[in-house]
Amino acid sequence: MTCAGAWAAVTRPLWRLHTSARRPLSVFGRKLGARCCSSGMTLDTINPATVDRIIRVDHAGEYGANRFYAGQMAVLGQTSVGPIIQKMWDQEKEHLKKFSELMVALRVRPTALMPFWNVIGFALGAGTGLLGKEGVMACTVAVEESVSHHYNNQIRALMEEGPVKHKELL
Ligand SMILES: [Fe+2]
Repeated sequence: MTCAGAWAAVTRPLWRLHTSARRPLSVFGRKLGARCCSSGMTLDTINPATVDRIIRVDHAGEYGANRFYAGQMAVLGQTSVGPIIQKMWDQEKEHLKKFSELMVALRVRPTALMPFWNVIGFALGAGTGLLGKEGVMACTVAVEESVSHHYNNQIRALMEEGPVKHKELL
């Protein structure tokens, strides 16, 4: 590849990273090895629509969770439950980081509702923070149960579509 071609690849507008079109990932004319290590599964063998939906929804959920704990910390960060909330928030930061990496690697665009999750997540967190320690913990348990239910539904959907096909995601 020429220098001009390499420069064009580097300076490609960011919006092109978020198109829904499936193209082989490439850098400087080389295909990227987007192969899962343990199963040898490639992106060609999985259902793109299923993966898009799962990654987009989960990323939005993790983003909302981050905003939720940001809201709780804004209200209760200086109280005795502050360190507990911070610990849960740190876990959510790791989850969001992982899904953000997956979005780039799998070329999945984020949901258009990100501004909504930004505001609503923070407002819910701050609102539950106003309920005090017990309110925060009750709400957190309810949210985590809902998240577990959501992930279990995704696992069921992937199992129904083909446990071998989605071995790496399961
Ligand atoms: Fe999470």
